[in-house]
Amino acid sequence: MAPSGSTGLLLWVLIFFALSITPLEARGPLGWLAGKPPQRTAAAGICASSVHIYGYKCEEHDVVTQDGYILNMQRIPEGRAGAGDMSKKQPVLIQHGILVDGMSWLLNPADQNLPLILADQGFDVWMGNTRGTRFSRRHKYLNPHQPAFWNWTWDELVSFDLPAMFDHIHGLTGQKIHYLGHSLGTLIGFASFSEKGLVDKLRSAAMLSPIAYLSHMTTVIGDIAARSFLAEATAILGVAEFNPKSGLVGGFIKAICHQAGVDCYDLIAVITGKNCCLNASTIDLFLANEPQSTSTKNMIHLSQTVRDKELRKYNYGSGDRNMKHYGQALPPAYNISAIPHDLPIFFSYGGLDCLADVTDVKYLLDQFKFHDKDKMDVQFIKEYAHADFIMGVTAKDVVYNQVATFFKRQS
Ligand SMILES: *[C@@H]1O[C@H](CO)[C@@H](O)[C@H](O)[C@H]1NC(C)=O
Ligand SMILES: *[C@@H]1O[C@H](CO)[C@@H](O)[C@H](O)[C@H]1NC(C)=O
Ligand SMILES: *[C@@H]1O[C@H](CO)[C@@H](O)[C@H](O)[C@H]1NC(C)=O
Repeated sequence: MAPSGSTGLLLWVLIFFALSITPLEARGPLGWLAGKPPQRTAAAGICASSVHIYGYKCEEHDVVTQDGYILNMQRIPEGRAGAGDMSKKQPVLIQHGILVDGMSWLLNPADQNLPLILADQGFDVWMGNTRGTRFSRRHKYLNPHQPAFWNWTWDELVSFDLPAMFDHIHGLTGQKIHYLGHSLGTLIGFASFSEKGLVDKLRSAAMLSPIAYLSHMTTVIGDIAARSFLAEATAILGVAEFNPKSGLVGGFIKAICHQAGVDCYDLIAVITGKNCCLNASTIDLFLANEPQSTSTKNMIHLSQTVRDKELRKYNYGSGDRNMKHYGQALPPAYNISAIPHDLPIFFSYGGLDCLADVTDVKYLLDQFKFHDKDKMDVQFIKEYAHADFIMGVTAKDVVYNQVATFFKRQS
């Protein structure tokens, strides 16, 4: 059964929600909605709160997108061993997924955090924070209280956010960039590289929990989808900010559990699969700092992706309206197979990941069947689920070192 757009939206709320709370047995499923006191205040920015504390250099950068958003980035130019020859350093751009920001990469003890590991391995590390997240809620003319500020989907992350970040890094370093994405960070990478916009500035790509097709993550929610009240999602939330920490969304989640007669707690285990390797202290820190806002329109676009089994631009809901925006009745498709076949690309996916479901990842990999074989590495980690790739205590040994080795091979 194909879920409706609003069902898909709900699905995402539930999945993220479930992902967030899985390890917190003691706190109960709605713990983060109750509001925890922050343990690491980020007011001073990500460098100050989450990089300097580990003894690394870190620079805050702002970049302005072509459509006026001001995005915050962090740069960790060197590891603990010092700078080395800066002119030879290769930049890596680390791009987070949906409903989180760059800080989600920095919540473990120092030697387990991906950005710090890559800095120690000699890379010039950059972290992106997409529009709408805590430090990227600025715009040249708009403010986050205006609906127009939230009038975008991941299409705009592809068209504007990624190009602004790439241009900034490339402009400063003169070097081609290694891209590393997780989850939505992989989706916007795939979409962008398929349109070939950034490939002249791109050295290689590492895709963790890769998503492009999402039609197999619906199983359990199928039941809930049948319940028509879900159609209210868009009506309740409107075209505006989608803030998972707000009472509105929180109440909505509770209502779903209640109305669907579902024990949210069981639901969680079934939906997310089980992250094998999260540290309880890290999860506390995660909950104090995430989730982050996105736009409701972005959630709707994602649910269209769930529904349609195809990667297309945002669907305005009717042939006429699409015609007005795109000059055609169906939104233009992103063609993953059009990603240049000689782009070095590394995939890592988990056997228990219910967002990047194994069936969907296999379908995705199928789009790469004509890719140059020696340019493509595929890693499967049986026991990993979605969040293990960002915060797993074993991720350094299991994934990050492999990514660093892969990047070095593409020098
Ligand atoms: C979990 O995190 C805490 C706090 O950062 C740390 O002291 C502990 O060593 C971590 N445990 C593991 C297994 O990494
Ligand atoms: C959102 O953008 C579209 C054009 O893409 C425009 O038609 C619409 O009026 C905008 N809505 C808001 C609330 O700014
Ligand atoms: C997608 O790109 C591939 C490779 O360039 C091409 O062979 C194929 O025809 C394209 N598919 C569509 C639907 O345009």
